[in-house]
Amino acid sequence: MIAAREGTVVISSALFAFLHHLAAFGLVAALAIELVLLRQPLTVQSVRALLRADMLYGIAAAVVLTVGALRVLFFEKGVQYYMHSVPFVVKVTLFAVVGVLSIRPTMTFLSWRGAVVQGQAPVVDEPKIKALRRLVHLELAAVAGILLCAALMARGLGSGLSLG
Ligand code: HEM
Repeated sequence: MIAAREGTVVISSALFAFLHHLAAFGLVAALAIELVLLRQPLTVQSVRALLRADMLYGIAAAVVLTVGALRVLFFEKGVQYYMHSVPFVVKVTLFAVVGVLSIRPTMTFLSWRGAVVQGQAPVVDEPKIKALRRLVHLELAAVAGILLCAALMARGLGSGLSLG
């Protein structure tokens, strides 16, 4: 009976780890797509693709956060462990930074919807596009930092509590 329960916990933990990784890959893919599209001249098709990529980004970020929080609360090493882990705190802070950095690109893409609905590409000057590209670049750099923190925290580095 206990073995069966432990088995269920291990399977749930693996499932949530899978979902966490899947969403994290989706988030990175969405940002990479945005970067590629922002390097090309804007067309109706590319703006539609940007809007879809940004929606994927939003969904992936929500799944990463929800699944990550569930892992902290119910699976893995327990809330106490993560609260004493410096890489965990840095990771969550960087995640919030990515969220803040993404506000301007998202608002800008949404503001282009009107033109696209009318079948026209929005007219945007190059400095504005360059600023958007820089923001998406920074988001990707912060995600790289998040990945480093994830590897460190999973192995007990920078943690006040021992893994026992
Ligand atoms: C873009 C955001 C994120 C990315 C790319 C990401 C990526 C990862 C990766 C790759 C791992 C596996 C680490 C390893 O086993 O070597 C991991 C583990 C984990 N992540 Fe995230 N993560 C993100 C956000 C979050 C957030 C916001 C939370 C919490 C609210 C969170 C909680 C966790 C937990 C609890 C683990 C398990 C660590 C362990 O094995 O002790 N993650 N994450």
